[in-house]
Amino acid sequence: MSSESADRSAADKQGGKKPDCAAVRPFDFHAPLHLSARLTLPGRAVLSPLQGVMTRTFMQAAARLDLIPLWFTPFFSTGGVSVPKRAAILRKLAPYRVRPDLPLVFQLIGHDARSLAATAACFGEYGVHGINLNFACPSKTVTASGNGSFLLRFPEKVFEFTRAVVEAVPDGVSVSVKLRAGWDSPGSIREIVRAVCDAGADWIVFHYRTAAEMYRPADASERLRRIVCAVEAAGSVPVFGNGDITSYADAEALVRSTGCAGVAVGRGFLSDPWLVRRILSGDPNPASDAEKTAFLRLLMAGTDSTRCGRNWFLECVKMTYGADSVEFREARESAWDALRARWS
Ligand SMILES: Cc1cc2nc3c(=O)[nH]c(=O)nc-3n(C[C@H](O)[C@H](O)[C@H](O)COP(=O)(O)O)c2cc1C
Repeated sequence: MSSESADRSAADKQGGKKPDCAAVRPFDFHAPLHLSARLTLPGRAVLSPLQGVMTRTFMQAAARLDLIPLWFTPFFSTGGVSVPKRAAILRKLAPYRVRPDLPLVFQLIGHDARSLAATAACFGEYGVHGINLNFACPSKTVTASGNGSFLLRFPEKVFEFTRAVVEAVPDGVSVSVKLRAGWDSPGSIREIVRAVCDAGADWIVFHYRTAAEMYRPADASERLRRIVCAVEAAGSVPVFGNGDITSYADAEALVRSTGCAGVAVGRGFLSDPWLVRRILSGDPNPASDAEKTAFLRLLMAGTDSTRCGRNWFLECVKMTYGADSVEFREARESAWDALRARWS
């Protein structure tokens, strides 16, 4: 399907007519989305999980400054554990207590229905608002043990695992899934999406690439075609489109042309930590200077003076102010003690 036909398809969903561009109001990214008795998404843009890249300090600073509307955690592996120990669950949940008012969607990965269900039930009992099942991770270490996107080869397993978790969680806990478009071909999008919807998932985060495509750039019209396909198959179950979103304009074009309910941004947040807020607000300058300073102060408080810590902090200054900024140039030229004094 070309981007034009994907566009037409979204227009069809809105009443059969292609909208008159002059009359189109901006998409309301700020509109809450009620998903279950425990989970209402505060808006239509979320930060997609990024295992290992986002430090605890970075995430906590982002949360304190309202740069994310909910916690959507990286995956917790249930491999081989039938019921996680209480201490392990509390340890996993502790970092998110820094903003207990933000909804918490905890992501699980695994290849055994019973252990996924038992783990989801435990996290549900400890108060998480939602469980997300990862059927998306393409990493070889993950797929080699039958986890993540490997399961996309078996839609009946995807159904079974999702169903088991839906049945296991306490009432009101939302169950969602993170999908890619398939294992090595996008030919089963409909079947996979139907499997999770039939199993009772209440929302879907859909990354448009197949596992085999890893992170290779894809044709823009193909991205739209696949997301439209997922949205259509999902029917009334909301789909958040994911993949390569780096600006408000891209997020807006994506929801308009695919009919998806919202967007999940991943790597774009690493080069622009204000991206989710930018999309939610539509404001091209969503952060005041005071907030930028506060963000860097929080990051500095959690940074050590090792070479690695220093380099990481410099990256943070660069992404906050830009590579050409005075702040970044000064930071790069400063000795560590001066840098710490400046940002503490
Ligand atoms: C380093 C890294 C770690 C990731 N960790 C997770 C994870 O724990 N769970 C998950 O569902 N997706 C994970 N993802 C996938 C992202 O959430 C996202 O779906 C993907 O990067 C595509 O979106 P983007 O183009 O906006 O980055 C990870 C991606 C990267 C690059």
